[in-house]
Amino acid sequence: MAGLRAGKAERAPLFASIAAELKREIASGRFAQADLLPGERELSEMLEVSRTTLRRAIAGLVEEGVLVHRHGAGTFVRRNPPRVEQPLSRLTSFTEDMRLRGLAPSSKVIEQGTFLPTPEESMMLDIALTEQVFRLERLRLADEAPMALERAAVPLRYLDGGELGGSSLYAALATAGFRPVRAIERIRAVVVGAAQAALLGVPEGSPTLDIQRVAYASDGRRVEFTRSVYRSDTYDFVAELTLSPGARARTEGAIR
Ligand code: GLP
Repeated sequence: MAGLRAGKAERAPLFASIAAELKREIASGRFAQADLLPGERELSEMLEVSRTTLRRAIAGLVEEGVLVHRHGAGTFVRRNPPRVEQPLSRLTSFTEDMRLRGLAPSSKVIEQGTFLPTPEESMMLDIALTEQVFRLERLRLADEAPMALERAAVPLRYLDGGELGGSSLYAALATAGFRPVRAIERIRAVVVGAAQAALLGVPEGSPTLDIQRVAYASDGRRVEFTRSVYRSDTYDFVAELTLSPGARARTEGAIR
């Protein structure tokens, strides 16, 4: 590998050319088997640089989103996450969405428990500030790749004793007899801050989609308010658009 470095622009700092070299190696599939980078000692010998320079190069690549540190496991190459097409007309859960596409859904719980609602939750769920909600904040993954961060609030009375049981919130709501049948979703573009970027495995300031969902049970009661941050490189939201019946009749009339 060291040979590849010869003839590099002389003024580029060494760590930057090491980072570029590592990037080329990754692109060529060098670490593809396990996606795990060799240890620091091995890598610094391989690249013939000091560990300090190597660390700076790796830190830059983590910042760029090319590599990710996994606590206690090492530094990994970040492979492209699956790209998902999500119809905007179907009310499904994350678990269902991923399974439909043959991807394995999983979640990392960031926070869960029973709390009094925030003023926003109480307003969106149309409940009193004194009514308890079950709050669940999770990192959602598909085939181990982070896809979204979700913070859901559900009035406690719609979950059997506030127990989530399995890993699907909608399955828990269904068990309690309150499977959402309708939802209103609001989607906005936002750039992600440092903490959320680290969890999602994207560089700080990346574009993301901020999605709010209010879901209703069949009797019209609001059973869920969720704020999600979806990686914009993993989701294409697709909506089907149709003419209003009046406009359609006019169009067909004009064609005849
Ligand atoms: C989607 C929705 C969330 C909903 C979740 C339930 O991700 N954006 O509003 O809470 O599905 O998913 P699951 O049943 O897998 O927990």
